[in-house]
Amino acid sequence: MNNLEKHYKPKNFSDRVAFCFTKFLRFLADAFFRKKYGHRAVVLETVAAVPGMVAGMLLHLKSLRKMEDDKGWIKILLDEAANERMHLMTFIEVAKPTFLERLIIMIAQFIFIIMYMIIFIISQRTAHRIVGYFEEEAVISYTEYLKELESGQIKDQPAPEIAINYWNLPLHSTLKDVVKVIRDDEAGHRDVNHSFATILDGRKINEKNRDYKSSNQSKKKIINE
Ligand SMILES: [Fe+2]
Ligand SMILES: [Fe+2]
Repeated sequence: MNNLEKHYKPKNFSDRVAFCFTKFLRFLADAFFRKKYGHRAVVLETVAAVPGMVAGMLLHLKSLRKMEDDKGWIKILLDEAANERMHLMTFIEVAKPTFLERLIIMIAQFIFIIMYMIIFIISQRTAHRIVGYFEEEAVISYTEYLKELESGQIKDQPAPEIAINYWNLPLHSTLKDVVKVIRDDEAGHRDVNHSFATILDGRKINEKNRDYKSSNQSKKKIINE
């Protein structure tokens, strides 16, 4: 399957919750921004940079508490947050948020940090699955943005300097090139978060099997005695 069209089909209740939650937020974003892709990117990237930082911090604290290695997850999540922040720093050069959008950004950050932290504490795998689905939507949105730029519906413009430096782009690059590399980043985050959720699912199944085996063994012992 094309990397840009990858979709993780919900397989259990937790996946379906994550998927429906994402689709609900997508509906709100579509209703509010319509085709204002630059503004949409600015506002949504302020939210996108939250989960990696929250998850990284919570795993950091868990690693300290349990005195257990994190298997490299913390750095991956913090890098994701830093990368999303660079998306924001780039799009702020393209579109300046309105007063209403700035207000939404502040309220959304307050609500989303608390909400994501609670979801992560209750179910880490659901939290990663949600980000996986968010990123699927981000890929779709940037593909739509790119189409508008390619068709001329939205005027292309020289790439912001900050983006040229960060992604090491050729000096004559335009916004189209920037949207393409950002979309690749989103596809990367999508795969990482979906695979984190799947790894956690696997661990849960292994733990259940282990419990089942050990309870069976103790039953056999009792019968034999
Ligand atoms: Fe992003
Ligand atoms: Fe993202």
